[in-house]
Amino acid sequence: MLARGETVHGRVDELPFSERAVPQAKGMQRIALTPIFADTAWWGFLALGRTDASRVWSEMELEALRTAAEVFGAAIYRAEAEAERERIQLKLQAAQKLESLGVLAGGIAHDFNNLLTSILGNANLARMDLPPDSPAEYPLQQIEATTQRAAELCRQMLAYAGKGRFVVRTQDLNHLIKDIIQLLRVSLSKKASIDLELAPGLLQVVADAAQVRQIMMNLVLNASEAIGDRPGRIRITTGMIRPDSACFDDAVCAPEQPAAEYVFLRVQDDGCGMTAAVRARIFEPFFTTKFTGRGLGLSATLGIVRGHQGALKLESEPGQGTTFTLLLPRATEQPAEPEVPAPTAPAWQGKGNILVVDDEANVRHVAGRALETLGFTVTAAQDGREAVELFAANPAGFTAVLMDLTMPRLNGLEAFAQMRQIHPSVRVVLMSGYDAQASTASVTARGLAGFLSKPFELAKLREQMRALDDLPPQL
Ligand SMILES: Nc1ncnc2c1ncn2[C@@H]1O[C@H](COP(=O)(O)OP(=O)(O)O)[C@@H](O)[C@H]1O
Ligand SMILES: [Mg+2]
Repeated sequence: MLARGETVHGRVDELPFSERAVPQAKGMQRIALTPIFADTAWWGFLALGRTDASRVWSEMELEALRTAAEVFGAAIYRAEAEAERERIQLKLQAAQKLESLGVLAGGIAHDFNNLLTSILGNANLARMDLPPDSPAEYPLQQIEATTQRAAELCRQMLAYAGKGRFVVRTQDLNHLIKDIIQLLRVSLSKKASIDLELAPGLLQVVADAAQVRQIMMNLVLNASEAIGDRPGRIRITTGMIRPDSACFDDAVCAPEQPAAEYVFLRVQDDGCGMTAAVRARIFEPFFTTKFTGRGLGLSATLGIVRGHQGALKLESEPGQGTTFTLLLPRATEQPAEPEVPAPTAPAWQGKGNILVVDDEANVRHVAGRALETLGFTVTAAQDGREAVELFAANPAGFTAVLMDLTMPRLNGLEAFAQMRQIHPSVRVVLMSGYDAQASTASVTARGLAGFLSKPFELAKLREQMRALDDLPPQL
């Protein structure tokens, strides 16, 4: 191989073997040859060739050849650098677009959750005051059901934005699937049969159960929609793998630092499959090919997978069906007992004074009203700072604190920390529609008395407040 600025000239059959083929094919007898370098990378050769076996190249001709090769090399390098810059620019723009969509989606979901808290809470309160045979009963039930569907959309948007991870604990993946499969069967296309192939034994992951269920719902619903009205099968498989170095090469999303072992969930359908053009866009939020689609299922799924240091793989061809494989790092601790809060009797009544803290007046108001129906008296504060001041003035005057997480001036966790310094056993139930901290610590590990995700039913609030009775008394 020639170095930069070097030339060889002479008979073609004296050239190094590897450089002989092309000139020989063109019938050249004598040749002068110099390499072209684009910056430092060898790009090719520039050559002068003659069929005349007696031709000799002058030093001036060779110098011209070297100069021409330099000019070529520089032009090629510029063109390549330009193309590379453009490629990076496009990638950056795409990333920025997705990033700002994420911020937007997260912000909208946060505000909507507050609105939905007020709608759902007020509908619950109105129903409580009505006789069961009231004609208003049905429309109020519809309001509640619709609110839950709107809340579901908010959850997808939050998941896409990488928010909404609330309670992370060790779970068994098989258990989560069995839990949700009944629910899935009723909402799926009647033509699709579901085959469950769950690996024996425990498949432990550290995860937010609600979010893992959300992924399963999204993948299985998509599979069923891809099958449509034709008969088809959905295969759900679980298992454990030790990834090799190539395992994540073709993944849609891969962990930065692969773990030694993964638990996988595979959802396979024999539905319509996807073209390359569709495959390229399915993780964009709001991208859908369905008439009534929202385009949030897969973008939310990806957000959740990232949040759990997992990986996602996709195989799909038109007419060949689709396979999604989700991998989550395997956890080694024993799964915590699933928390099954005992349903609280509707007649349960509490007593004492509750400090309700939220920057949204609507939420403050409806939560206050709901607590009053449960037998509590209520003091309201509009942000963390006001709450801490009220609490500091009379810590014994409050049975518990019901506080929003995301607030101006002093947020819920900061206010909680300050209240704890004033009074270590203060009971704080945090509520949020938006996990600004993307916290990984579980609620109880932080010393919180409870957590409510917005929007919540009156019954959920009652359960949380009832559960406070089981805690050691606040001194
Ligand atoms: N199993 C599947 N088979 C074929 N296409 C799929 C499958 N899953 C997802 N897609 C494609 O990805 C798109 C985005 O999916 P998703 O984010 O769940 O939104 P939506 O289901 O509301 O359209 C779908 O509109 C569809 O084109
Ligand atoms: Mg979907």
